[in-house]
Amino acid sequence: MRKIKLKSKVHVETMRKSGKAASIMLQRIGEAIEPNISTYQLDQICRETIKEFGGKSSFLGYQLPNHPPYPATICASINEEIVHGVPHKDRILKKGDIVSIDTAIFLDGFHGDNAFTFAVGKISDQAQQLREVTKASLYEAIGQAKSGNRLGDVCHAVQSYVENRGYSVARDFVGHGIGRKMHEAPQVPNYGEPGTGIRLKPGMVLAIEPMINIGTSQSVVLEDGWTAVTADLSLSAHFEHTVAILSDGPDILTDNFELWNNF
Ligand code: MF3
Ligand code: CO
Repeated sequence: MRKIKLKSKVHVETMRKSGKAASIMLQRIGEAIEPNISTYQLDQICRETIKEFGGKSSFLGYQLPNHPPYPATICASINEEIVHGVPHKDRILKKGDIVSIDTAIFLDGFHGDNAFTFAVGKISDQAQQLREVTKASLYEAIGQAKSGNRLGDVCHAVQSYVENRGYSVARDFVGHGIGRKMHEAPQVPNYGEPGTGIRLKPGMVLAIEPMINIGTSQSVVLEDGWTAVTADLSLSAHFEHTVAILSDGPDILTDNFELWNNF
């Protein structure tokens, strides 16, 4: 098992800069989302913004085991796509779609990582409820991300919140520790037993990222080696924050009032 890297207060402040930058990338993309824009164009916005901040993409060229290098700076996952949707000129958003955008940046030696499911024009009540429940489950989990609690308390908070409302957790993908590497220990599943797992300590920084489906929890990865879709093609949503655990509670490093309160 890999060791968890605790961050000093100074590291957390540096990570707040990375987190803020990642949130601005996400906000700018959100402002550009409208019917007829391609996910390729959204990726271009992110590339420009990363340059402006003087950082590097956390995603471009990233390799997960058994995946080709990731070819873009955002993930853009439309409707039944859960996560890791690869931007493409041919993927055009249309009214009624939901699109989960994931942005991350490597800045001053640390990563910031966040995600948000946007509505493209007017969406169905069903899609809107999925967005609301998924976003709320993230905040339930963050509420449990405090010193003295256990990791399972965080994981269980997502699972119980969404399952009590009839939704399912996409079980093949997890959140993660984050710092000098985008993916650090521990893994943060969106399901688990309360009172189990490692004890949370000040200085831990977690990317908490519920991926929630209307139908089955099962997923399938498409031919491109990245894009994960729900096995029954039901809608999926994804919200993510980078969260520092401090002595006085959780601190959301990717917070951005304009983005998260404009729902
Ligand atoms: N936020 C996602 C994650 O934590 C995005 C990874 S995309 C990749 O896994 F391209 F970097 F793999
Ligand atoms: Co992440």
